[in-house]
Amino acid sequence: MNNNIVVLGLQWGDEGKGKIIDFLSKKANYIVRYQGGNNAGHTLVIDKKKIILHLIPSGVLHPNVIGIIGNGVVISPSDLIKEINLLKKQNINVIDRLIISESSHLVLKYHIKMDQSREKFKNNTIIGTTGRGIGPAYEDKVARRGLRVGDLKNIDFFSKRLKEVVNYYNYQFINYYKVPPVSYKDILKELLKIKNILFNIMRNTRELLYKIIINNNKKIIFEGAQGTFLDIDHGTFPYVTSSNTTIGGVFTGTGIGPKYLNYTLGVVKVYATRVGNGPFITEFFGNLSELFYSKGLEFGSTTGRRRRIGWLDIVLLRESIFMNSITALCLTKLDILDNLSEIKICIGYKNNTGKLINNFSYVENFSNDITPIYKIVKGWNVSTFGISNFNKLPKEAKDFVYLIAELTSTPVDIISTGPDRKHTIVCREIFT
Ligand code: GDP
Ligand code: IMO
Ligand code: MG
Repeated sequence: MNNNIVVLGLQWGDEGKGKIIDFLSKKANYIVRYQGGNNAGHTLVIDKKKIILHLIPSGVLHPNVIGIIGNGVVISPSDLIKEINLLKKQNINVIDRLIISESSHLVLKYHIKMDQSREKFKNNTIIGTTGRGIGPAYEDKVARRGLRVGDLKNIDFFSKRLKEVVNYYNYQFINYYKVPPVSYKDILKELLKIKNILFNIMRNTRELLYKIIINNNKKIIFEGAQGTFLDIDHGTFPYVTSSNTTIGGVFTGTGIGPKYLNYTLGVVKVYATRVGNGPFITEFFGNLSELFYSKGLEFGSTTGRRRRIGWLDIVLLRESIFMNSITALCLTKLDILDNLSEIKICIGYKNNTGKLINNFSYVENFSNDITPIYKIVKGWNVSTFGISNFNKLPKEAKDFVYLIAELTSTPVDIISTGPDRKHTIVCREIFT
């Protein structure tokens, strides 16, 4: 029986994780974020109403669900409160159903300023970050100078540490980046204003999860943010985010061990997108990409930037299935391919001497001399939008799904045919 499952992205983020987690949440009790921060943008659509969540776990739209933000997430407290209030305005009250880890590191004003200053300043490796301060916050954690949510409990200690860190950042702002410093007093003042809200929802989430898993027969979904190839260790470094987006992030980001997980669902868009810079072998441009913008609305949920568009890359997909111990796939955005007469799937690469290449390290090392080898399949030219029964899909669309399963040796358990919760085909029930 599957009780504790992971849902994570197998590409460069924006695979449609939020929609699928919301869909699966009707049968779940807890949704747990374990890495990333408000660089994430997870879109949920319910009866044409669109909600984008950045820090709050997808699934909280179901009143039965409790959202947990684990220790591996970096939290911007002001953005968290903004998100809570924004939901409240839409009559979704999450404050009584949200728990944050006392060990989560805080993202503060100087992290955001550093992230943005660096991106403006650099000329060799502009990552194209979301500018939310995520990289600097994780740097502070690893450097052991970061401040955690629970540190606010001891305000004397907190203030002293904050002052030291602000001085450290301001030295760089003034002397290196030549930008105005940040004010220690203002940061502290804002935190003092909101600290009680944080105290009310703060817990030792590792202990809490352990108790839930051991004592209760509850269903937990661990919600991944970003995607496999944005992983700090296994992605297309340095064009990555600063957390482990792959399966290991669940364990370090919550404190639970692998024996408590039953199932890992890998979410895959049936083509590929990427926001920000970095290698993207199957990328294409021109009229064809315009079709994906107009139909697929491929604009970043957090920054509104245009997402780069490419074909599905099976070499990368196989690698990410292996890396994450994927049990099954969820294919999203099938409907976006509806009007194409032919669809390409990358099944390998070749270099400029014609040598065949079948592994990811080429992408990792950004070899510019490689080109994709495509298998071309026939499109279906009818609408699949909103279909929720596999048998109702046109034959060519079914064959396309079978082909992905065959090329990756992985079953397809869910197919998404539109942004709404309802636009979902379940091939195999996950929660039994
Ligand atoms: P996430 O970051 O993985 O949660 O994905 P995003 O929410 O950033 O981006 C996915 C986008 O695709 C959102 O606008 C979703 O509403 C939309 N979406 C998800 N699944 C489907 C689908 O099957 N078809 C269509 N047309 N849109 C989808
Ligand atoms: P979700 O959860 C897509 C990308 C940024 C940039 C790189 C580093 O919605 O799938 P960062 O701000 O994290 O330091 O930026 O990572 N990025 C995402 N791309 N979806 C996301 O999240 C992303 N979060 C970060 O565009 O290339
Ligand atoms: Mg997103």
